[in-house]
Amino acid sequence: MKYLVTGGAGFIGSNFVHYLLDNYKDCQVINLDKLTYAGNLDNLKDIENDPRYSFVKGDIADPELVNKIFKDGIDVAVNFAAETHVDRSIGDPADFITTDVFGTYVLLEAARVYGLKKFIQISTDEVYGTIEIGKSSVETDQLLPRNPYSASKSGADRLAYSYFATYEVPVCVTRASNNYGFYQYPEKLVPLFVTNLLEEKPVPIYGDGKNIRDWLHVMDHCSGVDCVINNGINGEVYNIGGGNERENIEVVNIIFDQLKKPDSLKTYVKDRMGHDRRYSLCSDKTMALGWQPSHKFEECIRETIDWYVNNKWWWEKIKSGEYLEYYKKQYVDREIAE
Ligand code: NAD
Ligand code: DAU
Repeated sequence: MKYLVTGGAGFIGSNFVHYLLDNYKDCQVINLDKLTYAGNLDNLKDIENDPRYSFVKGDIADPELVNKIFKDGIDVAVNFAAETHVDRSIGDPADFITTDVFGTYVLLEAARVYGLKKFIQISTDEVYGTIEIGKSSVETDQLLPRNPYSASKSGADRLAYSYFATYEVPVCVTRASNNYGFYQYPEKLVPLFVTNLLEEKPVPIYGDGKNIRDWLHVMDHCSGVDCVINNGINGEVYNIGGGNERENIEVVNIIFDQLKKPDSLKTYVKDRMGHDRRYSLCSDKTMALGWQPSHKFEECIRETIDWYVNNKWWWEKIKSGEYLEYYKKQYVDREIAE
């Protein structure tokens, strides 16, 4: 089977490349990645010389390049490539529209013209918007995205569906919850807080710290996507949730406990604009295909924290240059929460 993985140098994409190579002896994997600030070939160092793997540096929004790749023949395309950070989308949404919406269109168009067996659009639980306590989102629920990131992901999610409904491109859409694991860029909650604490810096908790996210181990996300590739019905959407809903402060407390850091390093800062209070997924439909998450949160979040402790070489070089500019804009002089 020949897979095109877009965004394969990012957090989930690189874990998915590893997953494919580990699980399918005869697969071929092409990784198409623009190497934005979030793309990192260090994530793939151990497999870069694997004869089954090849890397193409390029933009999913470049029709010439994308058409050339599809023309050579692709069995399965999995579109992870995206601008992914909510805070950055609030500061400057332009790249989110170009990559997440237009880039997805370019890929779908190539899939329509050249054909393939399956096109997976990687979407997110954020498309459902904020979910009140007591409810969980099912795939047929209305989409109510509330920030430029989730709105552009919703656009791509429905555009992908339209290519199934209109042109019969074999599309499935997956909507996953918050991933944790190795190789996550240190702008996201878990790696940001762990690495700040390892540098003896305070951590910025937004608002009251009681927003709820559902934590999914990245390898459970990978196995969920694989299950949908193999068993998903074309045109359908599949939720992939971890079943581990936690208030942010609970996750933060685990990190503090594991690293043995004092509470004085917790700072409550002005909330994210439009901050969704809670996400919650019902994953019954994906489980009915045969998928089960197998990573226990309490154990695996600690293993993840340890990975950042033991892999300073990986994140120390990221926390320089563009990262420091972003960090300064986002956090330095940020008001304290009321
Ligand atoms: P990430 O930011 O770590 O990686 C994104 C990757 O896409 C990077 O390697 C980047 O270089 C690449 N990229 C960006 N623009 C590109 C372009 N125009 N052309 C080619 N490559 C480009 O993101 P992630 O956290 O690994 O997320 C991957 C996907 O999963 C995204 O589609 C995201 O919306 C979705 N998702 C993420 C989570 C999560 O918790 N991280 C949860 C649900 C869904
Ligand atoms: O739910 C899936 C989504 O999860 C994905 O679609 C996104 O690509 C991914 O970035 C993630 O979005 P979140 O906004 O939930 O992730 P983030 O790690 O940025 O924030 C997690 C929670 O922690 C959220 O409630 C905001 C809070 N937070 C985050 C940061 C960066 C803080 O309190 N302080 C911070 O500095």
